[in-house]
Amino acid sequence: MDTNQLTGDSKAIVTNQSGIHEKLDEVVKKHLQHPFQKPFQAHTEQAFTAMDLHVQAFLAEHPSGEIILDACCGVGQSTRILAEQNPHALVIGVDKSDSRINRNVEGFSTEDGYQAQNYHLVRADLNDFYRLVKAANWPVTKHYILYPNPWPKSKHLQRRWHGSAVFPQMTSIGETLILRSNWPLYLQEFQQAAKQVKLTGELCELPVSEQPLTPFEAKYQASGQVCWQLTLRR
Ligand SMILES: C[S@@+](CC[C@H](N)C(=O)[O-])C[C@H]1O[C@@H](n2cnc3c(N)ncnc32)[C@H](O)[C@@H]1O
Repeated sequence: MDTNQLTGDSKAIVTNQSGIHEKLDEVVKKHLQHPFQKPFQAHTEQAFTAMDLHVQAFLAEHPSGEIILDACCGVGQSTRILAEQNPHALVIGVDKSDSRINRNVEGFSTEDGYQAQNYHLVRADLNDFYRLVKAANWPVTKHYILYPNPWPKSKHLQRRWHGSAVFPQMTSIGETLILRSNWPLYLQEFQQAAKQVKLTGELCELPVSEQPLTPFEAKYQASGQVCWQLTLRR
């Protein structure tokens, strides 16, 4: 990850691709035909079990309750904003970075007037967590993936979420998937890959916001970069 994105000016993405990766359709097809069976890491299995208890307790109290998943949530700013905006939902933010998940987010303490409690942050690897959510059939309404690591070099296609082995499971979670990136090609590729799992939707430029959803969005917009949103529905 480019630390400039966190500490100062964000540089625009540089890639050696001139358009959608020529192997994209083939890679997605391969992952759809060969289920991802790598064993789960113990720490993610444990984190999922703890989170599943919260989800089941929430659903027992609110049988038609809404679960919102905020994947790659970083420090969880978006998780907190989504919890405030959706007081009747349970919002779950997932990130593999312990230091990000446990970092204080300026402006979101009780002294700042932040009150929402309908969210949890969990440290887990989404390559495993997605498969566990899918198996447990959580009734996720909205599934956010905000500013995933772009992996812009052509040879790293399989590190992008749409080139990953977990793509079939990840895209089966949520009635609506919302992705944001400052690299439109990432979202164009995801949109093309999503057609193979019958998800369709639109790619739009985001207006500059007074309350960016995430620190990465804030940095990109502050450095004059356009942020994009892909919204996909079943
Ligand atoms: C570019 S940061 C964006 C963070 C946040 N959404 C934001 O916009 O501020 C990408 C995040 O994805 C997380 N991430 C990458 N791969 C992951 C994985 N396999 N499981 C969980 N989190 C992952 C990283 O730890 C990092 O926090």
